[in-house]
Amino acid sequence: MSIHISAKKGEIAPIVLMPGDPLRAKYISDNFLQNVKEVSSVRNALYFTGTYKGKSISVGASGMGCPSIGIYSFELYKEYDVETIIRVGTCGAYTANLNLFDIINVDRAFSESTYAFHAFGYSGDHLYHEGKAYETINYRANEMKIKLIKGAIHSSDIFYRDKQGTPEIASKNDCPAVEMESFALFANAKYLKKSAATLLTVSDIIPTHEQMSAEQREKALKVMMELALESCLAL
Ligand code: HPA
Repeated sequence: MSIHISAKKGEIAPIVLMPGDPLRAKYISDNFLQNVKEVSSVRNALYFTGTYKGKSISVGASGMGCPSIGIYSFELYKEYDVETIIRVGTCGAYTANLNLFDIINVDRAFSESTYAFHAFGYSGDHLYHEGKAYETINYRANEMKIKLIKGAIHSSDIFYRDKQGTPEIASKNDCPAVEMESFALFANAKYLKKSAATLLTVSDIIPTHEQMSAEQREKALKVMMELALESCLAL
């Protein structure tokens, strides 16, 4: 048991898929995993362990923002000997050059967050994915003929802000999309010498206010989940 996860040691697989939303974790486990066991529900941050094509995989929620994913991913790596975490989330596009349903494999996360500096002394405004999960995902996407966009994103601490338009850190560094978690996940993975990757499906286009419907969201996320799960088989 760790402070925020009540699973026993050994009940969490070495690979964890991590959506933000606990009900998304339940959806993945209900629809893609076999032999599922719920292993933690502290604060309703649901964690499940099951098998995918015979491989043991866990899926559990990160919550929203760097502080939240910072806690869950740290405990998974440190207390449960997890080797690889793949975040499977959504992002908002800063540009209409991206389309709803596009999938991004995150190469770097830029952030104004002080998480990495105050936790581990990492200065600088960006951190890279860690380990081999990122390359494995690219390889599998190619085999599965899934189009992936690879590049930098903005890991923002802020969802609601006064000033409209793309924040400077994103425009300056060619970040076409924004989410709120990868920077802390990558910081923990770097510090603990683990593997971390982030897959994001574009769920809203900020300048045009286009958004996925709930039904579209479920279908669109399916492609990303299958890619993540298939990649796990090679990790
Ligand atoms: N901002 C931050 N995170 C997000 C967004 C957004 O617009 N959409 C999906 N995740």
